[in-house]
Amino acid sequence: KAGWPGIINAYASRIPIPEGADVVTLGEGNTPLLAAPHLSQLTGATVYLKVEGANPTGSFKDRGMTVAMTHARASGLKAVICASTGNTSASASAYAARAGLATAVLVPQGKIALGKMAQAVLHGARILQIDGNFDDCLELARKTAADYPVTLVNSVNPVRLVGQKSAAWEICDTLGTAPDIHCLPVGNAGNITAYWAGYTEYAADGLVENTPRMFGFQAAGAAPLVHGEPVKTPETVATAIRVGSPASWDSAVKAQRASGGLFDAVTDEKILAAYRLLASKEGVFVEPASATSVAGLLVASADGRIPRGSTVVCTVTGHGLKDPGTALEGNVEVEPLSVDPRAVAAALELS
Ligand code: F0G
Repeated sequence: KAGWPGIINAYASRIPIPEGADVVTLGEGNTPLLAAPHLSQLTGATVYLKVEGANPTGSFKDRGMTVAMTHARASGLKAVICASTGNTSASASAYAARAGLATAVLVPQGKIALGKMAQAVLHGARILQIDGNFDDCLELARKTAADYPVTLVNSVNPVRLVGQKSAAWEICDTLGTAPDIHCLPVGNAGNITAYWAGYTEYAADGLVENTPRMFGFQAAGAAPLVHGEPVKTPETVATAIRVGSPASWDSAVKAQRASGGLFDAVTDEKILAAYRLLASKEGVFVEPASATSVAGLLVASADGRIPRGSTVVCTVTGHGLKDPGTALEGNVEVEPLSVDPRAVAAALELS
């Protein structure tokens, strides 16, 4: 028996695909909703992590990509294109390989993490490094897809967000209710839009009684939704969310307002502190952008905005192995030891 069938088959009634289409899946979804005892103790809330790094290509993008690629293949077009800070390109490359389609990925030169580039290379994508940022790449991808026979698989393609709703459904299915608060890192703002749509859909269908307050966190150097205006030259260590002009701006603001939530900015220092805390205290290795949800939770908690005893879910969006460079910075021990138990014991201060 094959086990978990991927999100399209698991939520067939909620994720429409074209009549007779073959489902393109790598078994995405069904990711852990992991209790976070250390964060719960720090905040006085019951905190869970939705560990999206457990998806096939190591990020939440796979939930949208299975749907986008299923539609793309059914359309008869032979190629897909996307702009990306790295994870969308990794996911598109893998699903296109699976579907037998060609992929072109437009990425900002020098600003995508090593692991994501490795994925696109090995899956056989055409990688175009653009002398510009993500926003420039997205504009270029949209123009190309408008004029040439190629499917755009960024989250501006609405079927992507239908797939990404599945993370909210899984959380409700596991908890039997929606959380009180949901914290997310926000870049291009597709994911917060999709989660809110997923929660409200379940509530409308009577499957849960409540919807969560949506807390969206951006890096301080790339926080257009917090400032209320686009950022021309976004900058942050969290390269995945280095976005100055989010495509899903309006729907993200709607989600925040309708849910009684908030947008806030967190510094790179706080993002990296949360990144290290997740790895060293919870045993969960995420990429820096993913730690933004947890950095935001800790700031909100310190500001008294997390009621004691509330249930909080933080989505950690991508795997730590995506960005080994940031993990190793300043931490590499180079001195070799002799092959001698006494040397090992001394190094560990056991004697
Ligand atoms: N976290 C990670 C790891 C991401 O890769 C992204 C977006 C986000 C959070 C933010 O999600 O854009 O829906 O608000 N990455 C896109 C990409 C931009 O190209 O891979 P969002």
